[in-house]
Amino acid sequence: MPRHFQSAQRISDVTISDIVIMSEAARARRAEGHHVISLGIGEPDFNTPDHVNEAAIKAIKDHDTQYPPIAGKPALKSAVAALYDGATPEQVLVSSGSKYTILNGFLASLNDGDEVVVPAPFWTSYADIIRLCGAKVVVVPTHAENGFQLDANDLRAAMTPKTRWLLINSPSNPTGAVMGAEKLREIGAVLADFPDCWLMSDEIYQHLTYGIDFASAWDVLPEMRDKMLITNGVSKAYAMTGWRVGFGIGPQDLIKGMTTVQAQGTSGTCSIAQAAALAALTGPQDLLEDRRQSFLERRDLVLNHLHAMDGITTPTPEGAFYTFSSWQDLKGGMTPDGKTLETDRDFCQYILEAANTTIIPGTGFAAEGHFRISYASSVEDLNQALTQMAAAIAAIKRP
Ligand SMILES: Cc1ncc(COP(=O)(O)O)c(C=O)c1O
Repeated sequence: MPRHFQSAQRISDVTISDIVIMSEAARARRAEGHHVISLGIGEPDFNTPDHVNEAAIKAIKDHDTQYPPIAGKPALKSAVAALYDGATPEQVLVSSGSKYTILNGFLASLNDGDEVVVPAPFWTSYADIIRLCGAKVVVVPTHAENGFQLDANDLRAAMTPKTRWLLINSPSNPTGAVMGAEKLREIGAVLADFPDCWLMSDEIYQHLTYGIDFASAWDVLPEMRDKMLITNGVSKAYAMTGWRVGFGIGPQDLIKGMTTVQAQGTSGTCSIAQAAALAALTGPQDLLEDRRQSFLERRDLVLNHLHAMDGITTPTPEGAFYTFSSWQDLKGGMTPDGKTLETDRDFCQYILEAANTTIIPGTGFAAEGHFRISYASSVEDLNQALTQMAAAIAAIKRP
């Protein structure tokens, strides 16, 4: 044994995410006595619904506290399967958050040197999860002028004999782009020419679309169901981020492989949290529409602020709860205390110091020249933070 800790090769490429770096910078600033508003984290500011909390309390009182079945409780697996046309409970794996579902899926299927194609901008964790599994991330950029939609020709150009998965995310974190049924069909047509490549579709923001219908890959591409993993969960829709319940829906052989991984990883998902998730999925659903409306109002409020900022360009997101803006026109600009803004991190650090607001650098999402705002915060915080940001941005001396 070496005397000092030496990290395993598999984590050597895993970076500390920009989200963590910005959160730590914000914490340091708070410790100095500043009131910092976080528009960094992707977490609804609502409470978990009461009936969900009560189901968890009942589970505790009923002593539902033994080791759960590894792949999930039958009632919850059935409730999830019922959401996906033709799916059986055996095609469902319940995990400790959909992030772990994604890790499970990749751990169960990837070998060293395999490739996973991911359209960028993408959620920070994807690249690290894929690298952790020994595979290579193949980035396919998408562009604001095309609504951050994946171009089928660009996808085709990225595919190689080593491509094992295409990982898509609609509605998208960080861009809010939503893939309609037609776009999914275009993607399906490309994948039809690559029989060794499977489709992972992260649909965690399914219930948050604005002016466009959500389309699940499960429904649009039924011919691919034997080579597809849908990942979803209760975190975002039901304000249950801390309960850590997510699920995967896919062919039985994949689910079996993922169950093997989970057996040695977590032994299954907290029995109390599963009782809560079951109540969320089978209880009243009108809260989803109430919350969607509330996010829509906040999106429009944030866009109004951002569109009034000179040098900032922000497309209108059609889903999730993020805006993804370009600050390229201000690159090379100078702050009032004489610092030149070159990188996304420079820009976000300046906003933290000058506007006491945390925003996330685009580099963290493989899209230099941008920043992400999460509008899952209160209207008061959004108004205050964005007013402070506008003043900070107006004070930048243009290059
Ligand atoms: C795109 C995306 N997928 C998955 C997750 C993970 O969600 P959870 O693990 O809470 O289910 C997140 C959380 O931020 C996300 O933004």
